[in-house]
Amino acid sequence: MTAHLATTEITNWGVDLIGVTKTYGKKIHALRGVNVQVGRGEIFGLLGPNGAGKSTLVKIMMTVVRPDAALGTVLGRPLGNRKKLAVIGYLPENHRFPAYLTGAQVLDFYGRLAKVPGDKRRKRAISLLERVSMTRWADTKISKYSKGMMQRLGLAQALINDPELLVLDEPTDGVDPLGRRDIRELLLELRRQGKTVFLNSHLLSELEMVCDRVAILVDGLVARQGTLSELTEHTVEYRISISGDVEPLRKKLSEIGVTLDATAVTLHGHDLEKVNQVIDLLRGGGVLIQAVTPHRFSLEDILVETMEATSPVSPDVRAARPVSPELLSGGEP
Ligand SMILES: Nc1ncnc2c1ncn2[C@@H]1O[C@H](COP(=O)(O)OP(=O)(O)O)[C@@H](O)[C@H]1O
Ligand SMILES: [Mg+2]
Repeated sequence: MTAHLATTEITNWGVDLIGVTKTYGKKIHALRGVNVQVGRGEIFGLLGPNGAGKSTLVKIMMTVVRPDAALGTVLGRPLGNRKKLAVIGYLPENHRFPAYLTGAQVLDFYGRLAKVPGDKRRKRAISLLERVSMTRWADTKISKYSKGMMQRLGLAQALINDPELLVLDEPTDGVDPLGRRDIRELLLELRRQGKTVFLNSHLLSELEMVCDRVAILVDGLVARQGTLSELTEHTVEYRISISGDVEPLRKKLSEIGVTLDATAVTLHGHDLEKVNQVIDLLRGGGVLIQAVTPHRFSLEDILVETMEATSPVSPDVRAARPVSPELLSGGEP
């Protein structure tokens, strides 16, 4: 117990990952010191482009992949400890179930693996198939399923052990818009039941609508992490719609650092003094103000900005590429 406490501080986080590092072979630095914290009972989204390292991180959580270095806890147990896997549900990316099984048989099979007693297993399978609207396909072989149906079944599979923590890797991959909405509603329902959800996605619209907190993973590092409002509140821009000839003011305006087009002046950042300074300048030059519109950035803006700040590189030069320190909430191990 003491040795365990010496290496891993016990926290109240549902998931608390510290300095997770993974290199495939010698060159592919999939994770370069990732720190991620997920509160119990929250829906957490790990967002990032393909190849960012999202799946590697959840595979490490699920003990499928061995990290080079990692500290932290999952449901209060040291990372890598398998005891808690019994109360974790996992939907891997591109999962493959044996094609000769029916949907109901898949759930029974995974229920057995998770050691859910027979009676409970059957009842839960029926209600989960119902919950993901797959009841009428229960006895159809899954080789006949579409990608969307496979994802629905995959979600039911991840819930067969009534988990405390649900880890979903790209759950809406190949799912149509209606199905996506169903999945979102299911996740919100699970949160109401007090479950913790860890969700990987390269689709920010998926995360924006359900997540309490998100982390943006780029090239194996967490570039941003926080609640949606934390990520978006400080990055505001003001758009001042104008009419009149703004040309004579162009030089002065560009010195202040605003963007100018024929109908508007745009100021980046949250600086009311500056907004008023620009308005004075415009009014002094005889330009009419039609509207001043503050614009809070969406998660999409933040993602694009984050990705632009880390220029695209090929995987083998990735390790050598400098990353600006202010973008890193995690930092190198
Ligand atoms: N088993 C593997 N062997 C070698 N490289 C891998 C393996 N799995 C993933 N990678 C590489 O590690 C990086 C991160 O991949 P992954 O974790 O799948 O990212 P994501 O899920 O964000 O798309 C990518 O460059 C990918 O090609
Ligand atoms: Mg992935």
